[in-house]
Amino acid sequence: MLGQKFEGVFLISGKLATKSFAPNSRVYDERTIKMDNTEYRFWDPQKSKASAAILKGLRQMPIRKGTKVLYLGAGSGTTASHFSDIVEDGKIYCVEFAPRSMRDLIRTCERRKNMLPILADARRPETYQKFIQDADVIYQDVAQPDQAKILINNSRMFLKKDSLAMIAVKSQCIDVVREPSEVYKELIEELEKNNFEVLDKMDLFPFDKDHLFILLRYKG
Ligand SMILES: C[S@@+](CC[C@H](N)C(=O)[O-])C[C@H]1O[C@@H](n2cnc3c(N)ncnc32)[C@H](O)[C@@H]1O
Repeated sequence: MLGQKFEGVFLISGKLATKSFAPNSRVYDERTIKMDNTEYRFWDPQKSKASAAILKGLRQMPIRKGTKVLYLGAGSGTTASHFSDIVEDGKIYCVEFAPRSMRDLIRTCERRKNMLPILADARRPETYQKFIQDADVIYQDVAQPDQAKILINNSRMFLKKDSLAMIAVKSQCIDVVREPSEVYKELIEELEKNNFEVLDKMDLFPFDKDHLFILLRYKG
């Protein structure tokens, strides 16, 4: 009944779950289950694009125990909390610019000492550089028209050569009129021109409509 998809990512009766880093506390309305004295939190693919990407066959998961993640667009911490379960003694630097989401995020971070909330605009990485000791991976879900540029600028500042990045792209945030496939093509070309190599990509349907999830290698 308990299987493993990636390091720290489990399958329980066909559903994704992570081992709770902060047992007896919930972050959203996720279901939990106790097995052999361990609490697992089901990772809802309707509420987290990373979970949807894994279920859609993501080939490689760059976040594992000890990983330091720079998370751009952390919202109230839904996906970030599952990363916190996975990295344990690693770190999730959670950048979010909406004060409303930040309030919930701070509450989540209080129970999870491996998550650091940073109230900042991801377009201005120089404003939070002082808080980031080291980042192995960037995860970005900002739903903004200039999301390629945001990833490029943050990668230049924080990533080492050959580090990995993941980005969730919502086509309608970039252009509401054009075909999503054209929007994705242009975004990927911009990333490739700026030293990224696409390692994997998938449409997140049926979990999300018109969303592309991309795993990238930063060539430095
Ligand atoms: C789709 S939601 C994120 C959901 C979250 N990633 C999750 O899975 O739990 C996008 C978030 O990005 C934030 N955001 C958008 N642009 C941003 C920016 N330039 N800097 C920081 N946060 C930003 C929004 O306020 C919003 O909370």
